[in-house]
Amino acid sequence: MHNSSLPQPHPDAVAHSQHLINTITQAIFDAGGAISFAEFMAQALYAPGLGYYSAGVRKLGAKGDFITAPEISPLFSHCVARQCQQVLAALNDGVILEFGAGSGIMAAEILMELERLDSLPLQYLILEVSADLQQRQRETLQAQVPQLLNRVQWLKSLPSHKLSGVILANEVLDAMPVQRFCLDEQQISEFYVGLANPDNNHTETPFVWQALPTRDKSLQAAVEALRPALPIGYVSEINLALPAWIQSVADILATGLVLLIDYGFPSGEYYHPQRDQGTLMCHYQHYAHDNPLILIGLQDITAHVNFTAVAEAALVAGLHVSGYTTQANFLLNSGLPELLSAFDPDDTKNYLQQTQQAKTLILPSEMGELFKVMALTRHLDIPLLGFARDERARL
Ligand SMILES: C[S@@+](CC[C@H](N)C(=O)[O-])C[C@H]1O[C@@H](n2cnc3c(N)ncnc32)[C@H](O)[C@@H]1O
Repeated sequence: MHNSSLPQPHPDAVAHSQHLINTITQAIFDAGGAISFAEFMAQALYAPGLGYYSAGVRKLGAKGDFITAPEISPLFSHCVARQCQQVLAALNDGVILEFGAGSGIMAAEILMELERLDSLPLQYLILEVSADLQQRQRETLQAQVPQLLNRVQWLKSLPSHKLSGVILANEVLDAMPVQRFCLDEQQISEFYVGLANPDNNHTETPFVWQALPTRDKSLQAAVEALRPALPIGYVSEINLALPAWIQSVADILATGLVLLIDYGFPSGEYYHPQRDQGTLMCHYQHYAHDNPLILIGLQDITAHVNFTAVAEAALVAGLHVSGYTTQANFLLNSGLPELLSAFDPDDTKNYLQQTQQAKTLILPSEMGELFKVMALTRHLDIPLLGFARDERARL
């Protein structure tokens, strides 16, 4: 996609973006001329009050930049609720903790479905780094499930005590900062972000890529391990913060399930020789493109998830990898057909709308295959509902 074919931001958005550009420029000066891409991505998405997820612009839904599964259809959240119900019943109670709850619609629909099933969790905790999204979540829950708001509690960081129950993260891992690398003949280069020469008359962005020998020993070691299978010039990215995140989640789970839903692949597919430009994607007003150095703070930046790396980190953290499957399989086994059959086919308009939305969630050409669901457990020995068609052998 050429940048010229992207929608032009409103002058207010341009002014907002300039504040973040100034902050990142200062960070680049402070670092001696370049920062890692992971640091750039962290600032672009999460700089307090300025980053894409920290500032007050509508991101999710038809009027935002992208649509996630819970925004497409309540059926998605109702299936997740059924998986939660099975685990909460096996644990004889427990809580739900959701990471990065977006608009709050998944939380509202899960609570609604669990109330209907008479299986409400003791508490629904939401860990949300963005104050703006926290406010939006509160409004959604107030409007949808006011009677259950007293069960919902927002956290700014992980709870200090261990919990039993279900930990949920839908499209959270893809929003974590990654490092970008290139395999050169002699060395592993890392893509840093520096400042364009002002004489170059750059109008779209003051930032440029700088490929330099990496200074990061962990990146060096991780990419050396991948090198034998990959061609010279290969570019991709890696989330080196993932193991610490999984460890911190494992540390607070006494008993129960961590359910991770996201787009991604096993390592062999992620680092496939033909996927030689990586998986970085940006979303701006429903346009997808691959340049994270423009529209600073105004666009989402994502990378696909390496589910083999997630599983390996989970094992190190003492969790059991209990299931891995496609979103389609997960939803079909968590009750999607029964939920759909409850709609009246004679109410044609609604019925068609529901089936159309369900198709978006499960068709291979839509979200069904690219999105995966992974179950990590501790002291939970039950055959999980959504993983009857398990694909762990692919990891
Ligand atoms: C693509 S949005 C997904 C929102 C929502 N889960 C949905 O499916 O609609 C990514 C979310 O992850 C959150 N996030 C990213 N890293 C996080 C972290 N380390 N802890 C908690 N939330 C995080 C962001 O603030 C944002 O709310």
